[in-house]
Amino acid sequence: MAEFYDALIIGGGIAGASAALFLAETGHRVLLVIKGDSLEKTNTFQAQGGIVFRGENDSWERLAQDIVKATDFTAFIPTVRMVSKMGPPLVKRALIEKWQVPFERDKEGKWDLFQEGAHSLRRILHVKDHTGQAIQAALSQAIAEKPLIEVRKETFVLELITSYQHAFDFQSRYLSPECLGAFLLNTQAGEVYPVLARSTFLATGGLGEIYQYTSGGSWNTGDGFALAYRAGANLRNMEFVQFHPTLFYVPGQERTFLISESVRGEGGELTDHQGKPFMSKYHPLGSLAPRDVVARAVFKEMKANKINWVYLDLTRALSPAKIKDTFPTIYERCLSRGIDITKQPIPVIPGAHFACGGVLTDTFGRTNLKRLYAIGEVACSGLHGANRLASTSLLEGLTFAYRAARDFNRSQNKLKQLGVLPFAYHLGSPPPNFMLENLKQTLKMLMWHNVGLSRHKEGLTQAMELLGLLQKEVLVLQGRYGVSAPLWELINQITTAQLVTESAWKNRLSRGTHYRSDSLPL
Ligand code: SIN
Repeated sequence: MAEFYDALIIGGGIAGASAALFLAETGHRVLLVIKGDSLEKTNTFQAQGGIVFRGENDSWERLAQDIVKATDFTAFIPTVRMVSKMGPPLVKRALIEKWQVPFERDKEGKWDLFQEGAHSLRRILHVKDHTGQAIQAALSQAIAEKPLIEVRKETFVLELITSYQHAFDFQSRYLSPECLGAFLLNTQAGEVYPVLARSTFLATGGLGEIYQYTSGGSWNTGDGFALAYRAGANLRNMEFVQFHPTLFYVPGQERTFLISESVRGEGGELTDHQGKPFMSKYHPLGSLAPRDVVARAVFKEMKANKINWVYLDLTRALSPAKIKDTFPTIYERCLSRGIDITKQPIPVIPGAHFACGGVLTDTFGRTNLKRLYAIGEVACSGLHGANRLASTSLLEGLTFAYRAARDFNRSQNKLKQLGVLPFAYHLGSPPPNFMLENLKQTLKMLMWHNVGLSRHKEGLTQAMELLGLLQKEVLVLQGRYGVSAPLWELINQITTAQLVTESAWKNRLSRGTHYRSDSLPL
């Protein structure tokens, strides 16, 4: 007998956690599942810079304009208008007043706002340089006080349950497809069980782990994109993977970490190995140009000068005390790797940061599958078009969590207690680690070189062929070892990589984050 909830939420970052809170406030029973062992393993927790608010003399129109410009005029205008109008007031009501996130204020008690690339003014609320940590802590605290929300950790989602794929009732196949819940794997006990829900909210985050260098945590294996794809949801704009220009880089250490754009907002300059700033060659806004422009410029400098990194220099802009006070986390993390950012420039490279595309939704987070919402990074709401404006991702997650919860409340969508088929595959144990690691490394290198910052037809074609071989290989492993979370994650990585590569192959126009050296002229 399947368990039953009003809402099943997959993912615990700002989108999933705040959707759970909004739903519980209106009396709904929520199951929130995460694959890790803590709500700290989210992209929200890792966010440094902050969340868009309203600056002085700011307006929703001005924010909308900045978003549209940063996306190179590719964003979906109704979404941009809705988020620009509703987002900042919601930040005030929910994050500041209700969940009490302690955003920074100046000595006079006014908001201390950061500046970031392509924003026409200061409007980013932050908590030092660990904003996401403060937001996640506030959300976790609020969740702990809500008995209607059950958080289930170490729970890996294997498959979304759909009416046309899994219901016993054959008639369902002829009706519009619905998502009825998901098959969950308890990774500790090794058991699979179905959970049914009136609605399922996909809030699984991103896909950085398909690339060699990424700003995100190791959990970003593209699970949500792959789950949605297998369930028959529409995905859009998958080629638009945003590369952040500044990840800390030390040769030989593959696990990089983010150096926030707010470092450039506070005066940090990108320089070459001679200490010469180079960004003014590429854009009038210099180091604060839109992110796609900066990432590509860094990449070009690296290629042209045959170097593996460039530098981000904050020493000329801020005093050592100010650096330590404004960026304590970045300071400590760099210091622990031998770089004192009060005295030395920071070695940086670009790396995969954010999926601007994903599961296509309307302005309420609804997908083409009834009862399935997609919110946060896994979604393609159209807000980010071909290139996301800095610090709009937390804003999008919060706003869409609210809108989706509101839509859920309005649609009294009772779920018939349908019988569902059992999970189709046999469980097993993971293949030896070295086998998984070899395949993962091959995938990540391939994506980095062939489907990275600069793409062309030959490289993309080769990537599609090699990804097909990797897919065959994991299916052999699945046959031999059975289903396990590590193997299923790799399958999700490969599927997501295929979705990105195929979209990149089909799109011959360079736009935003998708740059093709063989682009058709615009
Ligand atoms: C950053 O702090 O640079 C990341 C902010 C973002 O990606 O929106």
